[in-house]
Amino acid sequence: VNYLVEKSREDILNTMLDGMQRLEYRGYDSAGIAVDGDGYNEVVLFKEVGKVAALRKLVNSSDIDKNKRFVSHVAIAHTRWATHGQPSRLNAHPHRSDPNNEFVVVHNGIITNYRELKALLVSKGFVFETETDTECIAKLCKYVYDLNKHRDLDFTELAKLILVELQGAYGLLLKSVHYPNEVIGTRKGSPLLIGVKTEKKLKVDFVDVEFPDFAEITVDAGDASANGMLGVPMGGSDLRRSQSRAFVSDDGVPMQAEFFLASDPSAVVEHTKKVLYLEDDDIAHIYDGELHIHRVRRDEGLPSIRSIQTLEMELNEIMKGNFDHFMQKEIFEQPESVVNTMRGRIDFEKKTVTLGGLSAYLNTIRRCRRIIMIACGTSYHSCMATRAIFEELTEIPIAVELASDFLDRKSPVFRDDTCIFVSQSGETADTMLALQYCIERGALTVGIVNSVGSSISRQTNCGVHINAGPEIGVASTKAYTSQYVALTMMALSLSDDRISMRPRRHAIIDGLAKISKQIDEVLKLNDKIKEMAETDLINQKSLLLLGRGYQHATALEGALKIKEISYMHSEGVLAGELKHGVLALVDEDLPIIVLATHDSLFPKVMSSVEQVIARSGNPILICNEDEESLGKFKKTYRTLEVPATVDCLQGLLNVIPLQLMSYWLAVKKGFDVDFPRNLAKAVTVE
Ligand code: G6P
Repeated sequence: VNYLVEKSREDILNTMLDGMQRLEYRGYDSAGIAVDGDGYNEVVLFKEVGKVAALRKLVNSSDIDKNKRFVSHVAIAHTRWATHGQPSRLNAHPHRSDPNNEFVVVHNGIITNYRELKALLVSKGFVFETETDTECIAKLCKYVYDLNKHRDLDFTELAKLILVELQGAYGLLLKSVHYPNEVIGTRKGSPLLIGVKTEKKLKVDFVDVEFPDFAEITVDAGDASANGMLGVPMGGSDLRRSQSRAFVSDDGVPMQAEFFLASDPSAVVEHTKKVLYLEDDDIAHIYDGELHIHRVRRDEGLPSIRSIQTLEMELNEIMKGNFDHFMQKEIFEQPESVVNTMRGRIDFEKKTVTLGGLSAYLNTIRRCRRIIMIACGTSYHSCMATRAIFEELTEIPIAVELASDFLDRKSPVFRDDTCIFVSQSGETADTMLALQYCIERGALTVGIVNSVGSSISRQTNCGVHINAGPEIGVASTKAYTSQYVALTMMALSLSDDRISMRPRRHAIIDGLAKISKQIDEVLKLNDKIKEMAETDLINQKSLLLLGRGYQHATALEGALKIKEISYMHSEGVLAGELKHGVLALVDEDLPIIVLATHDSLFPKVMSSVEQVIARSGNPILICNEDEESLGKFKKTYRTLEVPATVDCLQGLLNVIPLQLMSYWLAVKKGFDVDFPRNLAKAVTVE
């Protein structure tokens, strides 16, 4: 939204296209934009299947006048990852109310009662043109608008009437020819934030006099305002329109302002670092260069202040740098990202761990009757990887759950349980639903999250940000190692009152002190792994990964990486289960990577290796550099040698060759490493 900032249509389109490109990692089967047309109150739609680049081509080749200038303008855009309906130009957002584009809508999430709404609207004569759930929102807008024409509703009032009819989850933007240069942004269960850019310092006023049933929301300028002027009442109470004003200039003259509404800060940071996160059921209404926030319904429980925060993310942090792919960059960033996870939290000399986000709840957690770790995908594997160290150090029973299965079973949860939610994005729908489920049952909730300000980090009682920096590659790498480190720190912190655990805790802290340098060492295997992928593995149909104890999680995570981006079938197998079925697959061709670094289970792992060799199998071992017992073996079989660390941290090193292996397999096969087919970075639908 630009207000009093004159721009050409080309600038506006490019702003939208660039922003969408940054969001592409969240889903990318089609994309679309709505901008103002040439005629009065006219909206034009552009939609295309595929990546944003395809839409850009379409926009560039259109004969719309790119030089037309707008003093104020609202455009909306969306990249889609299909839930309802095939990826197609028609099903791409924005969706419209009618062929005249009176209302256009972009939407993340799912409207669960769309069939009922559609049936109603069809009975009123609306003709649906797509298979999406979103289209019913646009049509509902027009239906409700036409019904209430005589009432001269403002856009917020109209939005309120519509939102009470919607069930499900949404991050939603509405644009209409009936409300030129205005936009409504609202959310429930899906993220939405507003970036604010103004020339002058912000001054914040708020008073909402005319609609007392709208709970009043104060916008707290936070560090965005030097003077922090808050809550100055504006005007009288006799005006028809809401008097709420979030932004006016110091001298009362309307000021230039730009607002960027997005589901993710990466689309916004290049324009402004001042952002405000909306809460569920907030309605943001922007008009006349001002931001107004209302509530769908009055609920007393929620704080009535939304603060503007300053993002610390730098744009170059989310750029590829010198690497060919984001995933490659993120793999090579791990020596730094694990340090960032520990920074300011571990005192390596005094051997103490301080997690500020947990401190108020540490004693409650220590006394809980059970800890349940809940996550999906790679985040689930980081829970698997650290479960044993939690059990050992805390002696509290630990359950590890996949969010979807946990919900499917309606697993019992009690007030004296502690539930830990691990998520890179903090927005994964399954994990969010499990969080809701545990909140309803009164459990203490902890978030281990990478994305600051995300839904999970805001809705849990306490938590730890893993501080790995933005992760763009769909296949998670640095977030995994940082989650692993953060969870280990949590176990260390929970057990710091246990004298009997002291030597073990100190050994782990010493191990963490060296881990970054050791990751650097492991990354030197890059060329060897590249060659191995190219010569030995690329033509294989399938690959097994074998591990047990701490390395079971590594095997699972390695197999997931290989599946995700190289599309090769791969399976992580618990070595103890080999003889119970998987051994039947073994022959001289099937590649088997064995995680055989030294820990108490090493002899058992080696007996699995013997079983594989006895069936003419050809194992590849990930083992320690100084493992003397493997001398003879190393001459016959292929190995990838990594430095040794404490047993419970070894997975941090062992996973890296597997990340690199999946990367090179995908590159050599010519696949799109950062955007694997059918997958999305943050799965915000169930
Ligand atoms: C998607 C991503 C995975 C990720 C999983 C959980 O499936 O493709 O890489 O591990 O979601 O995401 P979260 O953001 O909750 O860690």
